[in-house]
Amino acid sequence: MRSRRDRPIYMDAHATTPLDPRVLAAMLPFFGEEFGNAASRNHEYGRRAEAAVDRARGQVAAAIGASPKEIVWTSGATESDNLAVLGVARAHRERGQHVVTCVTEHPAVLDPLLQLEREGWEVTRLRVSPDGHLDPEELRLALTAQTTLVSIMAANNEVGTLHPIRELARIVHEHSPALFHTDAVQALGWIPLDVQEDGIDLLSISGHKIYGPKGVGALFVRRRRPTVRLAPQQFGGGHERGLRSGTLNVPGIVGLGVAAELAAQGQADVAPRIGALRDSLLAMLERELDQVLLNGDATRRLPNNLNVSFVGVDAEDLLNEIPGVAVSTGAACSSASLDPSHVITALGLGEARAASSIRFGLTRLQTREEVDRVAAEVVAGVRALRNADGIRSEC
Ligand SMILES: Cc1ncc(COP(=O)(O)O)c(C=O)c1O
Repeated sequence: MRSRRDRPIYMDAHATTPLDPRVLAAMLPFFGEEFGNAASRNHEYGRRAEAAVDRARGQVAAAIGASPKEIVWTSGATESDNLAVLGVARAHRERGQHVVTCVTEHPAVLDPLLQLEREGWEVTRLRVSPDGHLDPEELRLALTAQTTLVSIMAANNEVGTLHPIRELARIVHEHSPALFHTDAVQALGWIPLDVQEDGIDLLSISGHKIYGPKGVGALFVRRRRPTVRLAPQQFGGGHERGLRSGTLNVPGIVGLGVAAELAAQGQADVAPRIGALRDSLLAMLERELDQVLLNGDATRRLPNNLNVSFVGVDAEDLLNEIPGVAVSTGAACSSASLDPSHVITALGLGEARAASSIRFGLTRLQTREEVDRVAAEVVAGVRALRNADGIRSEC
């Protein structure tokens, strides 16, 4: 096996993040002697598991300004988003069958909305400007008395655009009866989140994007002012107050609890530090190379996101040229799909620019030395490809 030192430098934090050793340490007992079922309250094994789950509920709640009873455990943010969208829609279908979202949302939000359309619902998808922003006025105009849900992500997973969640939630609540859901998967740990102050009714998070385990997530569901009614999408033993049946993933939940606590506590220190490294990465690329185009907003973006197009360079070719760096092409929204990214397409920047875009996602562990090495390898890779091909001009 290759040593860690020989492995590529990992800079793909929007896809997943490494498990924090403190999270691993907290989880380990729950793979061993603490194997109880958190629903088995009649003996010590179960009660100890339940206590661990309760502790994690408090940690996740505190990270977003919620109360523990407002946290529903899920198998990840795909399930959290599905439960939010379908759960709200199906609980309120008699009130109105209209949902508002944005074209750049994650498929975990967009695809359940397609399902609602098949069931006769109307879905408004707000467009974005070339830097990834929606127009709050367009949101206001889209709202009607029949709007049941508005779902707008806090931070985009491809170009890192930050939506002004507090302002958007306020508009929604002032002008409609709709509930406001936000997918905060990429935002937690990078920007402050407070469901009370931000006016959020439902919020999705995922363990593996915050240095926690894969296969576990949570959905915040507001209980007061207003009480959010949700129709369960999975039936069985009535766990999670009947909202999400299924034996709880105790080790995963324990890990998510610690991960959320660390993410929220570290945010104020991590965001500026990693933001400065990200800025210096861009500065090095721009200094050494011509025609480096930033995709998305220069400032209102995640501190760890850098999505750039190298004009004339095919992103897939570049990845082959830089084996020492683990990043993603910006053009494929997931490795499961080779279609051009719906996000880059929605920015209206053209296919050639999408095909030449690379997404760097810095982790909170990233060092100056790693950033320098990544910049050097990318610069060399881009130069090699441009020298081989000559610069194409169609981007
Ligand atoms: C913004 C966003 N929402 C939802 C998801 C899905 O999360 P999970 O992998 O936990 O299902 C992702 C993962 O890529 C994401 O980036």
